[in-house]
Amino acid sequence: MERLDKFLSSQGIGTRSQVKNILKAGRVTVDGVPEGDGGRKIDPQSQRVALDGEELTKVRRVVLMLNKPEGFVTATEDARERTVMELLPREYAHRKLRPVGRLDKATEGLLLFTDDGDLLHRLISPKNEVAKIYYARHEGTAGEADVAAFREGLVLADGTRCLPAWLEPLGPGESRVTVREGKYHQVRRMMASRGMPVTYLARQQEGGLALGDLPRGGVRLLTEEEVAALEGK
Ligand code: URA
Repeated sequence: MERLDKFLSSQGIGTRSQVKNILKAGRVTVDGVPEGDGGRKIDPQSQRVALDGEELTKVRRVVLMLNKPEGFVTATEDARERTVMELLPREYAHRKLRPVGRLDKATEGLLLFTDDGDLLHRLISPKNEVAKIYYARHEGTAGEADVAAFREGLVLADGTRCLPAWLEPLGPGESRVTVREGKYHQVRRMMASRGMPVTYLARQQEGGLALGDLPRGGVRLLTEEEVAALEGK
C-alpha cells in the first residue's frame, strides 16, 4: 500500500504540488470513484487509478535528475560503498531505475536516472555526443596552450585519444570543461595530462539540461519536453 499522492508523482505526471492541484481539481479516480485525498492509501497492484479518465496502469517512463553529492558511487548496488540509489526518494523504489552514465565517487552534480531501457541506451550510446559541462578546481592555472590542446583532441597518458573538447579557464585553479564523450575518469585524466590534477569536479550541464537551483542531494522529475530536448528531438 502507498499514498495516492506518492503513487501519482512516481508516475511522472507532475511535481508534488502539481499532483496536489490535480487531486484538488477532482481529476483522479480510484476504482472509478473520484478521490481528492492524497493521503489515501492505495494498492497500485490491485486498484485502478485513473487521471482524466485514463488509467495509469500503463505506467509512463520516469526520468529523474539528481544533484549528486560526493561520496556515493554510481552503481545500482555495491557491497561496501554507499550508492546513488540511496539518494532517490522512496516513492520510486518500485521502479527499475538505472543511472544514465556515471559520475565518479568524488564527483558531484547532474546525474540522470531512468527506467526506460531504450532511452537509457540511446543516451549512453557513443553516437549520442551530448555536450557535458563540468566545473573543475585544479592545481595550476589553464592557459592558451591548454585550451588549444583540448580543442585539438588530447592524447591521454595511456594513449587514449579524446574528441576535441572545450577548456575555458575561469581564473587561477578553476576551469570549465565541455566534453562530448564519457570515457573513464575523462575530465580528471584530461586535466592531469596537462599537469593540472583536479581537486574538485561537478557536472553542471548535460545537453540543454542544467542543474539550475536543484540543491546538493536534491532530485526532480524531468518533463517529457526536457527528455525530448535531451534526445535532440
Ligand atoms: N570525468 C571525470 O573524470 N569524472 C567524472 O565523474 C565525470 C567526468
